Amino acid sequence: MKFFLDTGSIDEIRKANELGILDGVTTNPSLLAKEKKPYMEILREITTMVKGPISAEVTATDTAGMIREGREFAKIADNIVVKVPIIKAGVPAIKQLSSEGIEVNVTLCFSPLQALIAAKAGARFISPFIGRLDDVSTEGMKLIEDIVTIYTNYGLKTKVLVASVRHPMHVVEAALIGADICTMPFSVFDKLLNHPLTDVGLKNFLADWEKVTRK
Ligand code: E4P
Repeated sequence: MKFFLDTGSIDEIRKANELGILDGVTTNPSLLAKEKKPYMEILREITTMVKGPISAEVTATDTAGMIREGREFAKIADNIVVKVPIIKAGVPAIKQLSSEGIEVNVTLCFSPLQALIAAKAGARFISPFIGRLDDVSTEGMKLIEDIVTIYTNYGLKTKVLVASVRHPMHVVEAALIGADICTMPFSVFDKLLNHPLTDVGLKNFLADWEKVTRK
């Protein structure tokens, strides 16, 4: 499973990159609005830091506007993927951009049918938002299971990109289901390796090593 960082922060990407296992980055308007630099500058910089894909989201809500913004984003770099919301006007935009060879990440997915339609329109990625479903007492991970089953049933090639991840168990569950990618905030990425038994075990090994016979 690939690990993406869900952020607009260059600093967080730099820190995550230290581990050497970061595959991509997803951004959205809310994440970019938190940053102080112009968003096009941030996106350009991210494309040079991570192999990608790097998702940039359109804000137009009409088909022509989404296509126009998508084409603009695609000019930034080869590793840019255009994020399009799964609304009626978005479906022809997904189809058009994909037919031009611009990869599309379909966002704000909350149902299996939205995921099926995105795949039929040619989306490269589908982003089901599991944390936001959990927030309204609906099991987000069940949506991932359903989408993986439907895509497998029909041999659909769209990648399942688990989004709105809130804690490391979401990552474990997504991996058990066989999702392709998890995108997560830095706060979650930073916890993935944590285990208290590893820390205690290492502390004890090092303490015992002090007592070892050296000659
Ligand atoms: C996905 O690409 C979105 O940017 C993101 O995962 C949304 O997460 P949130 O529900 O924590 O805002």
